Amino acid sequence: MTVLSSENVLRPGASGLKPRLVRMGMSAVPTVFRLLRRFYPIAKFGSLCVVTLHDDVREVFGTDAIFRAPYKANLDIITGNQPFFLGMDRTADYDTQVACMQQVILPSDLPRIAADAESQATEIVSQSNGRVEVVDQLVRRVTFDVLARYFGISEPEVGRLDVWATRLFEFQFTGSPNDKALMREVSEIAPAFRAHIDHEIARRKEIMAADDRDDVMARCLKHQNAGDTVYTDEMIRTSILCMVVGGPPQPPMVVPQAIEQLLRRPDAWKAACAAAEKSDDDRLWKILREAMRFDPLAPGLPRTATQAWTIAKGTKRAREVSEGNTVIAAFASAMMDERRVADPGRFDANRPDRDYLHFGHGLHECFGRHINRAMLHRIIKPLLRQPNVRRAAGAEGHLRKNGAFAERLVVEFG
Ligand code: HEM
Repeated sequence: MTVLSSENVLRPGASGLKPRLVRMGMSAVPTVFRLLRRFYPIAKFGSLCVVTLHDDVREVFGTDAIFRAPYKANLDIITGNQPFFLGMDRTADYDTQVACMQQVILPSDLPRIAADAESQATEIVSQSNGRVEVVDQLVRRVTFDVLARYFGISEPEVGRLDVWATRLFEFQFTGSPNDKALMREVSEIAPAFRAHIDHEIARRKEIMAADDRDDVMARCLKHQNAGDTVYTDEMIRTSILCMVVGGPPQPPMVVPQAIEQLLRRPDAWKAACAAAEKSDDDRLWKILREAMRFDPLAPGLPRTATQAWTIAKGTKRAREVSEGNTVIAAFASAMMDERRVADPGRFDANRPDRDYLHFGHGLHECFGRHINRAMLHRIIKPLLRQPNVRRAAGAEGHLRKNGAFAERLVVEFG
């Protein structure tokens, strides 16, 4: 079987000493960050610089003319050398592309996306016989189905969107050309994904007159039909491809991680279940967002210095980085920085918005953040409102990870 028809969303987790050491290393990250914040807040290790304080992480994200997002090379492999704004600097092209997406992805869509997510999650929970696997059966299924419907992209005849998108996501953010096995998969998936979207575009054009769907694809084609020359077929394909690769793989990472964090804190768990029971969506969102702070998407995000720059200039901790240095903006650490986040070790769902950096900051701040704000908590609400929701017995009731990805967590109810 080739990767194109693989059923496995995640690559098989390696066994043996190395992955165990990686897991131990990952679990030490919060302690290492605490020590770095205290003794070495802008830490240089050769050409690598790790920035751990809240203000300095914001400075790195906010100074995009110096700290460039390093994603273009991998994005080019995924898109077949078509530009996408995540790989761009602050240019007129960046603004045009973002503006085009803002014309077809609208704030007025948010209630429909959230309702769709809750309704599908309700169906999954009601058919589950009191036992739900949170990562795959609930969060991944709902996220991919809801967003695929919203963007207007169907499942390919051979293969699966969630497998393709997750593999390309892994490559985009963590992949190196030295990982030959991943590169082999990417070289099969990327062209197949592009061809699939091209096929969808052609099919949708044929049936356009009789098709009343109001999804992102339909809106793009309407702009194209009306003579807006920015909406070429390549631009539509690339935008939808990059949205599906960059977006839906992430909720199945962070939401189960947040559930695991809630389960470790009986009071917070009780509060989340009570908010779900009362359908207090705002409260449930704040509890989920706070739980995510204890195990966010990643320790940090990379940037490449385009010229020499002094971070935290004028302070005692000021440090210069040189052109070409890799700078890690450790947003996980920033959200635990006691100088900006009051009593950061305490679970407090009433924190101000500015304490959180889950979706980045500055030029490349997550385009899907409003979708996340509308949808993430609605996916878990139907589960949390069940009676006596609890971990399943044994190991499967505790979150298992596979590298950077959440892999399995079973909860039971009733
Ligand atoms: C739990 C869910 C998500 C998390 C935690 C998340 C997080 C992030 C973060 C941290 C960034 C900044 C990357 C950087 O600066 O290096 C980002 C960018 C981005 N995200 Fe998300 N994201 C999520 C979901 C989504 C969804 C659902 C979509 C699309 C529907 C999406 C689309 C994007 C795009 C297009 C960018 C690039 C923005 C730009 O370059 O201007 N994300 N996301």
